[in-house]
Amino acid sequence: MKIIGTGSALPEHIVTNEMLAGFLDTSDNWITTRTGIRTRRLLSTETLRELALEAARKAITSSGLRPEDIDYLICSNVANSYVSPSLGSIILGQLGCSCPTFDMNGACAGLVYSLDVADAFLKAKNMKNILVVAAEQPSRFCNWHDRATSVLFGDGAAALVVTQGEGFKDFRLTGNTHTEVMYYKREMQRTPYDRVEEKTEPLVMNGREVFRLAVESCIDDVDTLLERNGMTGDDIDLYLLHQANMRIIECIREHLAQPKEKFPTNIQKYGNTSSASVGILIDELSRAGELKEGQTVMLSTFGGGFVTAAAILEWSDINYAK
Ligand code: COA
Repeated sequence: MKIIGTGSALPEHIVTNEMLAGFLDTSDNWITTRTGIRTRRLLSTETLRELALEAARKAITSSGLRPEDIDYLICSNVANSYVSPSLGSIILGQLGCSCPTFDMNGACAGLVYSLDVADAFLKAKNMKNILVVAAEQPSRFCNWHDRATSVLFGDGAAALVVTQGEGFKDFRLTGNTHTEVMYYKREMQRTPYDRVEEKTEPLVMNGREVFRLAVESCIDDVDTLLERNGMTGDDIDLYLLHQANMRIIECIREHLAQPKEKFPTNIQKYGNTSSASVGILIDELSRAGELKEGQTVMLSTFGGGFVTAAAILEWSDINYAK
């Protein structure tokens, strides 16, 4: 499987750390030194559906395909205002596609989870082209009086078109039950028969524990993929990691003893956009010509669950002029 099209879309509204310090007991210095985040984009006048559509349209255009050439749409999304229908169903018709679709909740690892499923579909189901969209609004999970969580997230969407061909070499996905370290419980309707009180809560997070799990599990995924493919850290040209915290990225980089240039980031601008983060990074780098033909790329992502998903691929150039 290889990537033949990319796209991304971000809300227009830019929120700086200083703006947050206007109503939260926080500071630009605290946020930048602990996380690397300087600004984030938050949905204001647009909807997540519009971002998902924009990213998907850009990805299809750059692939050179027509919407009717897409055989499947997998949409990575943790939650949005619609529980049903799926976000994939909502955007499908507006894209001009009429293929099957479903939403995947692989938390912040959802894009690479979706790519793993797409790879399996391409192999097993004789399909040609799959559109993977990751669209997330984690800012809407947070309690905006809680400085420990609300400063970390941003909203955004990314999309990739994948097709049969040489590119992805290997995936590693893991799962684990650690509900207590990070969860968001939204409201459901009650029936007359409910006897269990389920408290709804905005995002609850044990930041230190998530940090520890993230570093430990990403290192395990990257080391396992390198070893399984007879490679060392030096054989990877670019490490595209989930953009959750600059210090997490730095810990993984130090473990691998690799130069900073191999770890491009955009967390400074966008914060943690959940499963969209690594897709936005891929789209920006590819359009800027910083992802080059033949480069070996490591993707490594993690999220609530606790889940992780990593992959090794060889990059093929995309012609955005078409
Ligand atoms: N501004 C100022 N102070 C803040 C703050 C903020 N935005 N958020 C928390 N603090 C305070 C805490 O209340 C605490 O104060 P105390 O010592 O008086 O109790 C202090 O800063 C240190 O808090 P701590 O949680 O130990 O900080 P930390 O160094 O672990 O950094 C995170 C906190 C959240 C930045 C860090 O743990 C992290 O990034 N974890 C991973 C989170 C993540 O990536 N989640 C998404 C995964 S997909």
